[in-house]
Amino acid sequence: MDKFPWNKRYALGISEVDDQHLTLIYILNNLGDYVEKGHVESVRTVMVPMLTSYMGNHFAFEQKAMLEAGYDHLVGHIAAHQDFSDRAKTIIHGTADPLRMAKDLHLLVFRWFIEHLVAEDGRFGRWLAEHPDHKRDVFPAGTRILRTSAVRRTTQVVRRGQL
Ligand SMILES: [Fe+2]
Ligand SMILES: [Fe+2]
Repeated sequence: MDKFPWNKRYALGISEVDDQHLTLIYILNNLGDYVEKGHVESVRTVMVPMLTSYMGNHFAFEQKAMLEAGYDHLVGHIAAHQDFSDRAKTIIHGTADPLRMAKDLHLLVFRWFIEHLVAEDGRFGRWLAEHPDHKRDVFPAGTRILRTSAVRRTTQVVRRGQL
């Protein structure tokens, strides 16, 4: 299955958010790999926890950045995050057949990557570029940045083009 490499046009210019987005590409590529090879157990034991963690951490982080920047599409963006989380949880917990679950989750993440990360998160990046006065307020001094070892590791792998 084709891999999605990181492309600098996906970058919002907020390094922490961009690193977290690299994690989603890592998840997308691994899901595709595992589905293709029929490694459905790895989807359940590795990819599902990683995606669950991503949804919890990244969405909160990104929404906080948008809130602090005064982003005017914040409400719709939060709703989109919630909708994706609901859909993912329905697939994870509501699909009896493990291969079906893995395929549906892969398709959901693929669509999310194109329709949300590239399009909607990209819109926030362009908005930030057009509102430089807001940008400096996104992460005021002293803000604790979430950068888990898993994010660091996956970021390095995707940046090196190994996945
Ligand atoms: Fe995002
Ligand atoms: Fe988002």
